[in-house]
Amino acid sequence: MGEGLLSDPSRGLDAPTTKLTQGDAFPRVAGELRCGALPLGQLAERFGTPLYVYNGPAIDERYLAFSRAFAAVAHLIAYSVKANGNLTILRRLASLGSGADIVSGGELYRATLAGVAANKIVYSGVGKSRREMVAALHEGIYSFNVESAMELRLLAECARDLGVEAPFALRINPDILSPAPHAYTRTGHLDTKFGVPASEAVGLYRWARNAQGLRVQGIDVHIGSQVLEVEPYVRAVRQLLELADTLRADGIELEYLDMGGGFAVRYDEQGGMDVGELARALIPEVTEAGLKLVLEPGRAIVAEAGVLLTRVLYLKRSGRKTFVITDAGMSDLIRPSHYGGYHHIEPVGETAEHAVELVDVVGPVCETGDFLALDRLLPLPEPGELLAVRTAGAYGFAMTTNYNGRPRPAEVLVDGSLARLIRRRETLDDLVRGEVGELE
Ligand SMILES: Cc1ncc(COP(=O)(O)O)c(C=O)c1O
Repeated sequence: MGEGLLSDPSRGLDAPTTKLTQGDAFPRVAGELRCGALPLGQLAERFGTPLYVYNGPAIDERYLAFSRAFAAVAHLIAYSVKANGNLTILRRLASLGSGADIVSGGELYRATLAGVAANKIVYSGVGKSRREMVAALHEGIYSFNVESAMELRLLAECARDLGVEAPFALRINPDILSPAPHAYTRTGHLDTKFGVPASEAVGLYRWARNAQGLRVQGIDVHIGSQVLEVEPYVRAVRQLLELADTLRADGIELEYLDMGGGFAVRYDEQGGMDVGELARALIPEVTEAGLKLVLEPGRAIVAEAGVLLTRVLYLKRSGRKTFVITDAGMSDLIRPSHYGGYHHIEPVGETAEHAVELVDVVGPVCETGDFLALDRLLPLPEPGELLAVRTAGAYGFAMTTNYNGRPRPAEVLVDGSLARLIRRRETLDDLVRGEVGELE
């Protein structure tokens, strides 16, 4: 990567704020939730439900919080496309200077289509195929974060076939049981499929130094997602810096250290991570090592900037339960059922008249596991009323499916008083597109 692509270390030391959770992107004004200047009820009328709504300036703010916090060190913010890969959002982040952390050929396609500079793209993931590697080599990406010895060998082979060198980092498994809230979002210990054990890393780097088709570029780690504390990052980064020292003593110089993503956002009252505190803890160590820092935030940039709007279809009482049945379900937002993820849910409109009750908010999908919230105290809505499911900008639309024959929702981006459709609602034709065979 050219120096010009990195942040200028002399800029931004007087950063105005590094808090990720400065303002509420969806404030309640005169009794109704809004995005920018627009009441959410108006957006639901115009675009239908279920509907993802994103607040554009809130996305910018969160990206800029990272770039300000780390301005004192040469760095690359590689937004993790998997969190929300909408082209308009990617384009917006690219125009602010963001790179991309990708995990597939599909995300490479998205990122380049959206104008992310190839030399700001890092490619993570345990199962890159030959075809995907070749595509990324063709694009000239910044680096491959390699996760196994076999992958490294195949990468070298692909690069040799193309007559190029593949820049790479090894993703180290630091064997840290990161304090992520769910086992499925912990990636930093040896029982997970991710990364190469630290004990094997030096041997692999030594092998790669002499292997044709490879260029040692960096070292990488990702400890998990929704990590609230700074301390596990410091531990992981120190481990990587020790490895970098060992490699340097061996004549193997690195250009960058990639500390991954996973920085916590505010799903509930617990609060998100203070990126300023993270930066203050890490910058001195990375600067001393003379390494560039790569960060891969995903949810920290988009989660709080998005809500899922859903309309109440029915109320039903059964046994000791009260069910609020909504038009959005697990096919639209799978985090509650897949990770036990908590999303704050609130009525979009005025609720002073509504009695508060303990309810399950459930969707139309034929699964007992189809819910947005269980045993939640909510002002009991009337059928037809709207609910906002908060902090849904990351791993919301990105994890939607067509399960139960359900078209995916639309996505809307709001800038002040301007609402733009950035993905149209799927149609029934979309559901069967791509299926081959005779129709009688
Ligand atoms: C390698 C890697 N980098 C970055 C991320 C982004 O994590 P988050 O969206 O929690 O910041 C992930 C998430 O799975 C990941 O696996």
